[in-house]
Amino acid sequence: MSKIIGHYPALGYGFLTPYYDKIIGSVLPRSFRSEFVARMDIPWDAKILDFGTGTGEMILSLLDQYPLVEITGLDTDPIALKLARQKISKKNNVQVTQYDGGYLPFEDNHFDTVVSCLVFCNIGERGRFADEIYRVLKPNGRFYLCDFGYETKRWKRVIFRFLRSLSPLRALLKDSEDVVSRVLNDSKFNDLEFFYSINIITGTLNCCATVKR
Ligand SMILES: C[S@@+](CC[C@H](N)C(=O)[O-])C[C@H]1O[C@@H](n2cnc3c(N)ncnc32)[C@H](O)[C@@H]1O
Repeated sequence: MSKIIGHYPALGYGFLTPYYDKIIGSVLPRSFRSEFVARMDIPWDAKILDFGTGTGEMILSLLDQYPLVEITGLDTDPIALKLARQKISKKNNVQVTQYDGGYLPFEDNHFDTVVSCLVFCNIGERGRFADEIYRVLKPNGRFYLCDFGYETKRWKRVIFRFLRSLSPLRALLKDSEDVVSRVLNDSKFNDLEFFYSINIITGTLNCCATVKR
């Protein structure tokens, strides 16, 4: 594979990736991804892209509720993908793929649904990736996105900013106060629909959906 472009490990440092599930599990309720998936409306036989699949936790939540869909998990990180492969080794309807962080390695109009959980806070060029997702979605296909949103309580914003300033990803997280809206504003997507949100220690997570028109 050619050099990976603009990759940031899930937790800022590559050596933490093997412990990702444990660390994220300590700040994110176990049920969170299932709650996110439960609010999606996905055709039973959909072709789904999990953009930034990491260790494959979204894939497991999707399969729990949509066992017959066909899922492709895409990520730049070989260590995270190795962990994902161990979890999904017995599933014939799932594949995970590594790519170089450039253009998404799929044809136009390929997927019925794209999901992405906690990925856009980890990448630069958010508009470019959102437009790539737009390209690979079929017309009327849905993009379900979960990421940091704007916290309206000032005291919480202060705490969140402080905690993010300690992160090795602080350069990216600096403008992560409202990732969800920014991603959509900077891309070809419109009509953002928010449907679920929770607070974790580093901010408010918003889940939303948008459609390729
Ligand atoms: C915080 S993790 C989230 C993983 C997973 N979606 C979840 O729900 O736990 C962010 C993931 O985005 C991946 N990533 C970073 N840059 C990427 C890119 N350009 N394209 C796809 N994935 C990327 C990282 O390797 C990491 O696995």
